[in-house]
Amino acid sequence: MPSMRIFVATVYGGALDVAELSQPLCEQAGFQVNILEEPELEDLVNAPPDIALFCISTTGSGDFPGNFMRFADNMANQLPDLSHQRYGLIAMGDSSYDTFCGAGRKLDNVLQQCGAQRIGERLEIDASRTPMADDEALPWIESWLPIARESLQ
Ligand SMILES: Cc1cc2nc3c(=O)[nH]c(=O)nc-3n(C[C@H](O)[C@H](O)[C@H](O)COP(=O)(O)O)c2cc1C
Repeated sequence: MPSMRIFVATVYGGALDVAELSQPLCEQAGFQVNILEEPELEDLVNAPPDIALFCISTTGSGDFPGNFMRFADNMANQLPDLSHQRYGLIAMGDSSYDTFCGAGRKLDNVLQQCGAQRIGERLEIDASRTPMADDEALPWIESWLPIARESLQ
């Protein structure tokens, strides 16, 4: 059974809710799923999962939430070779900020610099348009899962 790790960056828990609501859909699609609420870079680099899913909200002025700062700093400083790694990315933010989805966008850039292969487009959820993030996240997950499965063939 292919493995999936869901990496969460959150302040108020919205990104964790998205991860927890996505988990059963991912399991039904045949993945063995772990959600990481305090992710470390080692969780991606040592014994990498078949696919990684990032649920990343933004705080401050385009900043990473505190629970994800060490992961993001270490990745940007070390730029590990992730050319084997496939991933999907859900960015959460609010378009009333100039730095809309800044953390998710930054992470996507660094993952690309490390050679990781994004599966599907990055989803950006705007809290001022979609107050319940799962309204957008779950349909996106449902369309992303078949592409994710196919990418592992
Ligand atoms: C203090 C604060 C700063 C924020 N800064 C940004 C920002 O720079 N860019 C952005 O797109 N959203 C920003 N947001 C909006 C959050 O990213 C958005 O509400 C998100 O859904 C929160 O997710 P969470 O519940 O996982 O923390 C900010 C929210 C707060 C409360």
